Amino acid sequence: LRHALVTGTSSGIGLAIAALLLRRHHDLTVTGLSRSAGPLAGQERFSHWPTDLTDLEATASRARRFGQQVGPCGLLVCAAGRGGFVPTDSWGAQDLNALVTLNLTAPMLLCAEMLPSLRQAQGALVVLVGSTSGRERAALGAAYAATKGGLASFAESLFMETRKQKVRVLHLCPGMTDTAFHDVERFGPEEGPETALMADDLADLVDYFFAGPGRRMNPTGLILEPQRVGVRKKRQVARP
Ligand SMILES: NC(=O)c1ccc[n+]([C@@H]2O[C@H](COP(=O)([O-])OP(=O)(O)OC[C@H]3O[C@@H](n4cnc5c(N)ncnc54)[C@H](OP(=O)(O)O)[C@@H]3O)[C@@H](O)[C@H]2O)c1
Repeated sequence: LRHALVTGTSSGIGLAIAALLLRRHHDLTVTGLSRSAGPLAGQERFSHWPTDLTDLEATASRARRFGQQVGPCGLLVCAAGRGGFVPTDSWGAQDLNALVTLNLTAPMLLCAEMLPSLRQAQGALVVLVGSTSGRERAALGAAYAATKGGLASFAESLFMETRKQKVRVLHLCPGMTDTAFHDVERFGPEEGPETALMADDLADLVDYFFAGPGRRMNPTGLILEPQRVGVRKKRQVARP
């Protein structure tokens, strides 16, 4: 059996990636880290380990448990994350710390803790889900963009370090994608085709680099954008 560790498997991009891989690869187990179990709960070859990734001790211990109990990690996907498109002066210390920890520190820590297991798998792939916001200016998203810009920089340097160790790094930078991500934001994709990427298409792309012809290439930075720009502003936002 081959083994994958995926964060954010309860929703959106992480869920789409885990579901597609489980469907296509019957020799693959997927361990999912997120707070809630989501639709994959109970599925064959899928284990959900409830984890709040803003708790770095818990995150590190999950990685160590994977190495000890599951086996060499052929695929690490860090998809869990959140937005936070608000005026910069509305951030407080706790919120800001939680955002940076979830979007940047937790993926870096998971890579650090998982490297021995990734090297053991010989030809493993790390997928870091960044954003176009990490590459360009994001209105009302200064803090979010900073976390994703940090991830971009981490991904590129990490690959310099791991290329000789047969570990590849895919830094996936999607633009607007049709997921629950925007439920708590002041904007979302406009109705209609082509204004948002589909999480299933991103999952297909990950599989291309994990098990398809893409496994012979290292896609350090891949920017994916919908064909059309279509942003819908909302009047009311439900903040959790
Ligand atoms: N959608 C977009 O337009 C878009 C564009 C560019 C980049 N991205 C990036 O894509 C990634 C996935 O977002 P998505 O669009 O799939 O959003 P989503 O549907 O809201 O999914 C977010 C995932 O992250 C997990 N998560 C959130 N907080 C967590 C925490 N404290 N601990 C553990 N897991 C946590 C959620 O699980 P639980 O709530 O169960 O914990 C969920 O599985 C994010 O990194 C986001 O920045 C999204």
